[in-house]
Amino acid sequence: MHIVHTLPALRCALATYQHPAVVPTMGNLHDGHLALVRQAKPLGDVTVATIFVNRMQFGPSDDFDSYPRTFAADCAQLEAAGCDVVFAPSEQVLYPEPQTFRVEPSPALANTLEGEFRPGFFSGVCTVVMKLLACTQARTAVFGKKDYQQLMVIRQMVQQFNLPVDVVGSDTRRASDGLAMSSRNGYLSPAERAQAGELYAALCTLAQAVRGGQTSVQALQDAAMATLRSTGWKPDYVALRRQSDLQAPAPGEAMVVLAAARLGNTRLIDNLEL
Ligand code: PAJ
Repeated sequence: MHIVHTLPALRCALATYQHPAVVPTMGNLHDGHLALVRQAKPLGDVTVATIFVNRMQFGPSDDFDSYPRTFAADCAQLEAAGCDVVFAPSEQVLYPEPQTFRVEPSPALANTLEGEFRPGFFSGVCTVVMKLLACTQARTAVFGKKDYQQLMVIRQMVQQFNLPVDVVGSDTRRASDGLAMSSRNGYLSPAERAQAGELYAALCTLAQAVRGGQTSVQALQDAAMATLRSTGWKPDYVALRRQSDLQAPAPGEAMVVLAAARLGNTRLIDNLEL
């Protein structure tokens, strides 16, 4: 496995390949990330993982400084998963000058849910993903459904800018109690970790109620938020939306329920397609 930190070294490592399959990450890898790498492997002639903690997508009070950085362990796991090239640029390499051009996603998709609670987040994500796709010359890029809205925003960016990239979505990997794997799970205390499965349980309960014929979206969302609050969570949202564009669902449309909530100081997100 080649580990490269600069653009010339990346170009050299990829020179003989036609179809890079790329998995962008911020590192601190877990089985969810590694599943994306395994999924990417047969989709290209070289498998590339990128590791870059992107300051531009963190808000002023977010965890940029404390975000876990575990580069050596990440590389060992990537090699075991069959990754061929790791591109881990410094900020100086990826942003050698102030990034005055930015990718601004469609407000209708990017200003709701995560975008409402994390202003500028999706602009930061789109800008860095655009750069990473350009640097790696990606022909396929794999993203997790765990970050459902992010996947949708990136799909729309790739489509509207005619990027020659197939965007592939990958199912959410979960711990045995249902908790979606996340780098931020490491912030949870043992007591918080023991109750963290409640977020997924709340999504499952809501989905079950919809399948059971309940139709009042507001009542379902309110009930899920109340359940979470009663056990000490601070939910930002629990929202039942349609899968096509994350707007309010109409009867008969494929739906997804998305949630973000804080347990102590840790903010977790999750979702479930119905
Ligand atoms: P990061 O949080 O490191 O996630 C990297 C990729 O792994 C994303 O596509 C994410 O959806 C996926 N992922 C995370 N947890 C997962 C799980 N439990 N199951 C399946 N996939 C999972 O998302 C980012 O980084 C950044 O925003 C990035 C796209 C790299 C841009 O900076």
